[in-house]
Amino acid sequence: MHILITGGAGFIGSHVVRHFITAYPQYTVTNLDDLTYAGNLENLRDVEGSSNYRFVKGDITERDAMLSLFETERFDRVIHLAAESHVDRSIASPTEFVMTNVIGTVNLLNAARSLWKESFSGKLFYHVSTDEVYGALGSEGAFTEETPYDPHSPYSASKASSDHFVRAYHDTYGLPVVISNCSNNYGSYQFPEKLIPLFINNIRHNKPLPVYGKGENVRDWLWVVDHARAIDVICHNGKPGETYNIGGQNEWRNIELIRLLCGIMDRKLGRAEGESEKLITYVTDRAGHDFRYAIDSSKLQEELGWSPSLQFEEGLEKTVDWYLDNQDWLDHVTSGEYQRYYEKMYG
Ligand code: NAD
Ligand code: DAU
Repeated sequence: MHILITGGAGFIGSHVVRHFITAYPQYTVTNLDDLTYAGNLENLRDVEGSSNYRFVKGDITERDAMLSLFETERFDRVIHLAAESHVDRSIASPTEFVMTNVIGTVNLLNAARSLWKESFSGKLFYHVSTDEVYGALGSEGAFTEETPYDPHSPYSASKASSDHFVRAYHDTYGLPVVISNCSNNYGSYQFPEKLIPLFINNIRHNKPLPVYGKGENVRDWLWVVDHARAIDVICHNGKPGETYNIGGQNEWRNIELIRLLCGIMDRKLGRAEGESEKLITYVTDRAGHDFRYAIDSSKLQEELGWSPSLQFEEGLEKTVDWYLDNQDWLDHVTSGEYQRYYEKMYG
């Protein structure tokens, strides 16, 4: 089996690549990534020498390059994670999100359809998506696979659009596809533009912690390794044409999560209790900020037997330990371009 994983040098992609090359030594895993600001081959240093792994640098928005890559490599399955993934960047530069998330996905669908035109038997196009396509919840309820799409940010609109194309290729051409929609991931190798690693990095440097609005928005957090396990289960046992929601059953109001994180950081850095919380700074809310996400993952749990493995408090502590043990990684990814982004966003 030859599996193509796109976006494998990013946060979740690197965990998926690591999981597949370790759990399935009999598979060949090709990681296709354009190494944008979010892609970093250091995320795979521990496994890059594996005999069943190879890396290809390439841009999914390049149609002809994708067609010829598929023709040469003859992939059996695709797990597609490559994307522009940060909501705030999508508010500043929406067009890039259309190019990568929509056009890039359509290019991959076309390349798969062209390669697999003789027979779809044993083939699968697995599209990794987000719970943000469902919009925002009030204080009650959870997204199911039947919740109508209602995206609000350019990021979620581009992901919703790509989901629609994936389903359209299934319904129109019979392409074997699955989609999963997951909640917020946390863990090692996450780029420090997202809440948890950004705040760990700022606490480390005694910089303000920019809390959007009143910090009352709610997210459902899942350990990234559990997301990679879910992707494995869906890739092998998911039913073509189906959608699976993945979530942590772990809702946190932002400000409560931030306080928990501050407490862990105080302990780990040997600071007085309450020291890091003093860095909390309330800033202008994100435009179109979705109030609450919550995922009902009972379909995945009941039909495919997956469940999250880690409690959040334990996972967050492990995550803090990882960033503090890997401060060189943080320093490296926050040098150069990151400083300009930070100034523009928060300066
Ligand atoms: P990320 O931003 O960390 O990584 C994205 C990767 O895609 C990077 O390695 C980048 O170099 C690559 N990439 C970007 N544009 C490319 C292009 N044109 N061609 C080839 N490669 C390109 O993202 P992430 O947080 O790991 O998210 C991965 C996927 O999972 C995305 O599709 C995202 O929508 C989805 N998702 C993320 C979360 C989350 O909490 N982070 C939750 C649910 C779903
Ligand atoms: O729900 C899944 C989605 O989760 C993924 O599809 C996205 O790729 C991923 O980025 C994430 O989106 P969010 O917008 O929820 O994640 P982020 O880490 O940017 O923000 C989490 C919450 O924290 C959100 O309510 C906004 C808030 N926040 C974020 C930042 C970066 C702040 O208060 N301050 C900040 O500086």
